[in-house]
Amino acid sequence: MANQVLVGLQWGDEGKGKIIDVLAEEADVVVRFQGGNNAGHTVEVGDEKFVLHLIPSGILHEGSLCVIGNGVVVNPLALYDEITELEKRGFDVCPRLQLSTRSQLVFSYHCLIDGLFERKLGDNKIGTTKRGIGPAYADKVNRVGIRGSDLKHPQRLEQRFRAQAEFYNRIFRDAGEESVDTDSEWDKVKAVAEKLAPLVEDTVLTLHRAAARGDTILFEGAQGTWLDVDFGTYPYVTSSNTTVGGACVGGGIPPNRIDHVLGVAKAYTTRVGRGPFPTELDDADGKLLRDTGSEYGATTGRPRRCGWFDAVATRYAAMLNGVNEIAVTKLDVLDAFDTIKICTAYNIDGQRVTDMPSDTDDIERAVPVYEECPGWGAKTTGVRSYNQLPQATQNYLARLKELLQSDIGIVSVGPERTQTFRA
Ligand code: IMP
Repeated sequence: MANQVLVGLQWGDEGKGKIIDVLAEEADVVVRFQGGNNAGHTVEVGDEKFVLHLIPSGILHEGSLCVIGNGVVVNPLALYDEITELEKRGFDVCPRLQLSTRSQLVFSYHCLIDGLFERKLGDNKIGTTKRGIGPAYADKVNRVGIRGSDLKHPQRLEQRFRAQAEFYNRIFRDAGEESVDTDSEWDKVKAVAEKLAPLVEDTVLTLHRAAARGDTILFEGAQGTWLDVDFGTYPYVTSSNTTVGGACVGGGIPPNRIDHVLGVAKAYTTRVGRGPFPTELDDADGKLLRDTGSEYGATTGRPRRCGWFDAVATRYAAMLNGVNEIAVTKLDVLDAFDTIKICTAYNIDGQRVTDMPSDTDDIERAVPVYEECPGWGAKTTGVRSYNQLPQATQNYLARLKELLQSDIGIVSVGPERTQTFRA
């Protein structure tokens, strides 16, 4: 496979980390192109579990170069901690990691203001991860952001950091809030800047040179389509483009360098944070999905909201991203159900709707129309090929394929690398 973009087709947490890990084995370069340490990609290798927030999952494969692209907002302290943790576990990270000169940096004042905005929103809060993601992107478009390249210039970095910290501290003081201790924060930033500076590169050149050599590049999307700042359930979204175009803008590669788009969808649906979620279940089935699927946020530990597969939202997401194929993850979580439901349409004010509305208020009022499928009454976690899946499971996947109007190319029945196979 040449250059491939992997995107989430739901509200994030589709199990992308696991699929990326499997695909990374064949990739020469793995690239993060948006988001920041709001993401948490969980990968299990043997008895070991890794949760990666900023570093591409490719780092777990010795052969691949990992790139944090210009579209990412990077908390340097968090990045440094993640590198240190991986080094402690035996990975030689720095020689295989590059950070874009054009990436934007996230500091503690972004995290504090993220929390302040949320408190001010009261009942209308977004439910952010409080990792400062929105405020850091706001600084970027306000043209006051501090970039990866600043890490290489300590004096410039200090001057910019202090100016921004002072700007935010005025806001905090006016609001009667805790402010940032600029001196002690600067000491921390300065220390990690020295360590990170050697990783900072013009990663556009890295990627274009790799492509020219014929290297395989994997673009690793974070979050999911319905959290995209343009296409998601606005304002209950993250602040970046989580959809396929984000790979071009946030990686610095043209669309004609993308050969393949893989969409990842869980066999049911989850969402963390607030916002519409038509198939959400507040009953025993929802609890069973959460408990069986261990649906707790990898970054914040928050319990995820759970519900049935939403073919309306996922078909739209597949269309929007131009997916060539879909990976269906956590299929085994449905093993526990006698009957499985799929949402095939919404009822909105008495109208049957089969395309995801673009108006979030309409999605809030959507009542799911379900189709029922029989459960398969068997454990699928031991299955290692499509043909070994029970017939009812194959029928469920065939129905998803039909509803999504996309091929299902990969199926996953557990967290282990060996539990993923071609469909
Ligand atoms: P933010 O990205 O921290 O600003 O949060 C905005 C919204 O995106 C909130 O609803 C978060 O719960 C959600 N979100 C951010 N990152 C992730 C993720 O990696 N998985 C799932 N939801 C996420």
